[in-house]
Amino acid sequence: MKKTISGFSKLTKDEKIDWLTQTYFGGSIEAAHTLKTFWQSDIDLQRIIDGFSVNTLSNFVIPYGVAPNFIINGKPYCVPMTIEESSVVAAASSAAKFWSERGGFRTEILGMKKVGQLHFLWSGEGQLLRGGDFLQKLKTTLRNESAHLTANMEKRGGGILDIDIVDFTDIEKNYYQIRATFKTCDSMGANFINSVLEQFGETLEWFLTEETGIEPQIVMAILSNYTPECLVRAWVECPTATFGTHAGLSPEALAEKFRLAVRIAQIDPYRATTHNKGIFNGIDAVILATANDFRAVEACGHAYAARDGQYRSLSRCTTEGGIFRFELELPLAVGTVGGLTSLHPLAKTSLAMLGNPSAEDLMQIVAAVGLAQNFAAVRSLVTSGIQQGHMKMHLTNILNHLQATPTQAEAARQHFADKVVSFTNVRQFLAENK
Ligand code: MEV
Repeated sequence: MKKTISGFSKLTKDEKIDWLTQTYFGGSIEAAHTLKTFWQSDIDLQRIIDGFSVNTLSNFVIPYGVAPNFIINGKPYCVPMTIEESSVVAAASSAAKFWSERGGFRTEILGMKKVGQLHFLWSGEGQLLRGGDFLQKLKTTLRNESAHLTANMEKRGGGILDIDIVDFTDIEKNYYQIRATFKTCDSMGANFINSVLEQFGETLEWFLTEETGIEPQIVMAILSNYTPECLVRAWVECPTATFGTHAGLSPEALAEKFRLAVRIAQIDPYRATTHNKGIFNGIDAVILATANDFRAVEACGHAYAARDGQYRSLSRCTTEGGIFRFELELPLAVGTVGGLTSLHPLAKTSLAMLGNPSAEDLMQIVAAVGLAQNFAAVRSLVTSGIQQGHMKMHLTNILNHLQATPTQAEAARQHFADKVVSFTNVRQFLAENK
């Protein structure tokens, strides 16, 4: 049977599912049934969700939870988190609680600059693009001709910040780029920046042709997801003596072990990748819950982690002068208006839960959660090990899957408190304890 099709996007949703059933499920309606099980009963809501993408057949459900007890700059937050990994919300909540008893999280914004690039080839006199009146005239023309696109953003306090030409001709023949920086207020800014850049492309084309007789070739216009100057810092600190103890370790020894674990992630990219993954467990969960772009945030964060040429931990820890300090610094380009933030009902709820934050506020909340997540993971790693917490959640998932009764589940939790949790072991335990 032919497994490809043209005009698929023009079929209705039911027709698409029928085609899929016949072509990839041998006519069995089980998959179709599963897809339909997750349809929203509210038709208008389903239509909104369908509109986010194309060829939408169903909704993929991921748990939406909250981590309460976050104190950020003295203000309490209950943070929405969308994530499928079982122990993440529990870990964030426990770190939030721990630090709420030690002054909470502190945060600050270090910059709000977004970046866009227009890539082009030009064989004219490079000196003209390096400075002087010609370059000045070009920059003024670029600004003037995009004024109709920037007017609204300027009213909100944003717009184009700087326009620079970067010369790459020593690496790639005739290749330059316009690298511009933008302030996009509470929106993530992708549409705004891309529209301005495309206008830059049109302007540059006629300007260079008219002024020099040499036409440039526009390669592409697109924002950069690397925004090292859209930066936030979050930190926690406490006297080392109040850090807590574990299995005979003094607070000082425990804090030192923690510091060393973070230092290892500074030194070694293999550990740094896992360490940062733990940070993004928290960050992505809030980014998703607020319908922000987690791919953009991840790409930028990892590029920043490698900014000196080696991939390193995004967090740092010191234990000097009797003070334990743990800090996370990373770029975060997020929005609290535009995009799906107000279209997706749960994103709207998330933002309302956070007090309808500005983009700057949201950056700080997200950074605090990333730090909390990192703290919880590293603290587990240097004390009881990560599996203890994971296995508890794993056991719950297996018990649910095997439809254990509440009495069986309680008995299983006690039984497996000091034993290896595996699907086979749990199934055997339930069979013996009906
Ligand atoms: C698991 O999702 C995340 C951790 O591996 C992070 C870390 O190792 O720091 C626990």
